[in-house]
Amino acid sequence: MKIQLNRSLPIKYVEAENKIVCGQTFMDITEIEDCPAFLLELLEELNIPAEFDYVAERYNQSASEEAYNINEILNNLIEEKIVSYTWEQDRYDRHRLFFELSGMNQADSMNTLRDATVGIIGTGGIGSNVATLLAAAGIGCLKVSDGDLIEESNLTRTTTFKESQIGTLKIDSLKANLAEQNSFCEVHTLTHLLSRDKLHEFISFFSDCDILVLSADPSNAFELIGRLHSEINIPVINAGYLGRMGLVGPIMDAHSKPGFEQLFNRDVFENINTTIRINKKYQAPSYGPLNYIVSSICSHEVIKFITTGNSILKEKRLIINPDNYETLVYDYKKDLNLNSPTQHYPDNGTTDQFDIIADFYKNHREGASLNRVILDDYVKEVILKREYATALDIGCGIGTYSRMLDLCSARVVALDTNKKMLDVAREKGGQIEYIQCDLIEYESDSLFDFIILSLVLDHINDYCSYIKKVRSILSREGRVLCIVPNHVKDSCTSHQNDKMVIENYFYEGVQTKSRLDEHGNFLCELNSFKRNLSTYVNSFIDAGFSLVSIKEPRHPDKMHLGHNFPYFTVLEFKYGN
Ligand SMILES: C[S@@+](CC[C@H](N)C(=O)[O-])C[C@H]1O[C@@H](n2cnc3c(N)ncnc32)[C@H](O)[C@@H]1O
Repeated sequence: MKIQLNRSLPIKYVEAENKIVCGQTFMDITEIEDCPAFLLELLEELNIPAEFDYVAERYNQSASEEAYNINEILNNLIEEKIVSYTWEQDRYDRHRLFFELSGMNQADSMNTLRDATVGIIGTGGIGSNVATLLAAAGIGCLKVSDGDLIEESNLTRTTTFKESQIGTLKIDSLKANLAEQNSFCEVHTLTHLLSRDKLHEFISFFSDCDILVLSADPSNAFELIGRLHSEINIPVINAGYLGRMGLVGPIMDAHSKPGFEQLFNRDVFENINTTIRINKKYQAPSYGPLNYIVSSICSHEVIKFITTGNSILKEKRLIINPDNYETLVYDYKKDLNLNSPTQHYPDNGTTDQFDIIADFYKNHREGASLNRVILDDYVKEVILKREYATALDIGCGIGTYSRMLDLCSARVVALDTNKKMLDVAREKGGQIEYIQCDLIEYESDSLFDFIILSLVLDHINDYCSYIKKVRSILSREGRVLCIVPNHVKDSCTSHQNDKMVIENYFYEGVQTKSRLDEHGNFLCELNSFKRNLSTYVNSFIDAGFSLVSIKEPRHPDKMHLGHNFPYFTVLEFKYGN
């Protein structure tokens, strides 16, 4: 197969430092230091596509003269997205570049979109724009429903319709216009408005869709989608308005809790108990420029959902302020979890989720992850301050800190309950004794001078027993470094750009968090235990420790949204007073 330089990544050579810098943002930047001369030549040559084997053969000798393995180098360049496999440049070429840069396989993504069917209920200011964006992006089949005719005022809210189409059915004109936009996109139409008596027709028309966009606003829309979900399990994404605010999400399917039915019941409950609707002619606003923002975000989430199975808007609603572009993510699930009065702690059993996280950690924990960017340099500084005869890394994950300890300790033991994590840790090398074991069951044959617990106590129910266990295996001069999720960040229920909305400061208990990958895509849900700083510190003091320092490391990139959020708290304790 042919390979070439990634066309959408700036790749530069910094002559004074003899290094290659690829990428533009903290999410995609890679640096190659001490660049060997042959590599620079190879990269320059790869401006023109060439067969992998040809390149490997051509540079084999110069690479081995400098003690490099050319196949390994080429594969690393591909893995780091500096070099990519080429493809035929069709109409989707620039989309393919975007998918590749997003860490997705372009061919798989485009094939998945081609084979997908998306339903759109309502083809007004939002639905028609979503249809146009999805058809242009290569969705194979669209099913659209609407019973309305095009009016003059529609022409302000969407650019899909034309003056000559005023008076025609929206879905008929949309179908004709989409055929001109992308003749490969199949379009099927249903001439009805969403209503209770037509629901069975909607269910059979949309039954083979991969996802449905709800862009119609009858007042009982959520009730009808709830009923649809009692018969067919098709994910539905809502898009529209909340007052003057643009709104995208939630995405929910028949198994979601809450589902559309619960949202509808909640609205009904609020209406019955507190309000009486007076204006019978209520209509949501519809403003062209904002429709495009909502439609673009909705289309992007639909594409992500189809290609990856995930979306940041699962059970969440994104609200966009058109005055200052502030956004707010409202998390229904989190809200219900935290407000439930019947909270109780589950066991520590989150093994399955850690399997998923192990896959992510393998490739990204030491790359662009927030832990790497925010925590690792500080932790390294603390670790390398002293030398230790014995060190213990509890919940070591892929051994990031075990290997740092290996630089300054005669003996490093690392424990984790997850086998996958330990397999990756072992692969990464070092003179470290990796043991698959829960700390509470660990029978130590010696005391440790340094113990690190990084992001592990928050996954443990009976954490006080673990803290006592730590003390029982710590030497008299010993130090403990304990990293926990920041309690202020964990108390935040939503955020408006860089401002946090803190609603659950005093709540302590189970918290279900969505783990995201380096691109913000959903990985899995992880149960953890939210505890406040005072709880952790006092538990260590009660177990016989004293506090040496507290640090809340800050994201170093001033342009990053996270620069203003405290993600982690790093606590240093010593034995006794
Ligand atoms: C969020 S990861 C942190 C990994 C690593 N310390 C780091 O900072 O990169 C939490 C790790 O703790 C492990 N873990 C969870 N409960 C544990 C327990 N009771 N005993 C030992 N390890 C545990 C998990 O398997 C997982 O690898």
